[in-house]
Amino acid sequence: MCEQKLHNLPKNIAIDGPAASGKSTIGTLIANKIGYMCLDTGIMYRAVAFQALKEGINVDDEEQVTKLAERIEIDILPASSRDGRQFDVIINGEDHSWDIRATAVNAVVSEVSVYPGVRQAMTLQQRKIAEKGKIVMIGRDIGTVVLPDADMKIYLDASVEVRAQRRYIEDLGRGEDVCLEDVVNSLRHRDEIDSGRAVAPLKAAEDAIMIDSDRMTVYEVVEHVMKLLEKRG
Ligand code: DC
Repeated sequence: MCEQKLHNLPKNIAIDGPAASGKSTIGTLIANKIGYMCLDTGIMYRAVAFQALKEGINVDDEEQVTKLAERIEIDILPASSRDGRQFDVIINGEDHSWDIRATAVNAVVSEVSVYPGVRQAMTLQQRKIAEKGKIVMIGRDIGTVVLPDADMKIYLDASVEVRAQRRYIEDLGRGEDVCLEDVVNSLRHRDEIDSGRAVAPLKAAEDAIMIDSDRMTVYEVVEHVMKLLEKRG
């Protein structure tokens, strides 16, 4: 299916869902198919968490972390290397594409994402990026808060067991020394914080299309979304 065949494409597409539900992989594939840009906003929160650790900022110090979020420079560019990365992530001029995926970052990123000032700084940047349109934006609060007017919203879900299994295989593939039980526990912990926070919690927008990918491959999900796009025409 190519872009020419599709009419009435949405200005922007919002994809939300819990950690490791495949949002980034699926969002990137859809964006490539329809010639849109793709922005995984989780990267931005990861960049703040990573930089806080790097600068020795205590992640419990809301004021310092918020100040960091207001001054950090994050560039998300098309992947320059074929090492499995989906994007190049440049933080204050340095490539940290893989560092933002480290276990230490996983352990604190949800805590950092709770701070309203951090969210405000990231949301402003995300809205600015989306102004031009033709973007697939991925996150937790895109359909509800960042782009509530997005004319296509998808909520991608999967059970914690399936998500953990997928993440575990990915981590092993990168040579990380991980244990499945730890991955399950880490995802449960992040789900709890992401869904329970007061500001912009993880939840499906009322007008989101729900997709449960437990029994679907990546390509089946992409095909499903492409059919939805085709139907709009
Ligand atoms: O999608 P991810 O696992 O890379 O996201 C990392 C964290 O960033 C996630 O635990 C919560 C936070 N996040 C958020 O609060 N809002 C978003 N729009 C995207 C991510």
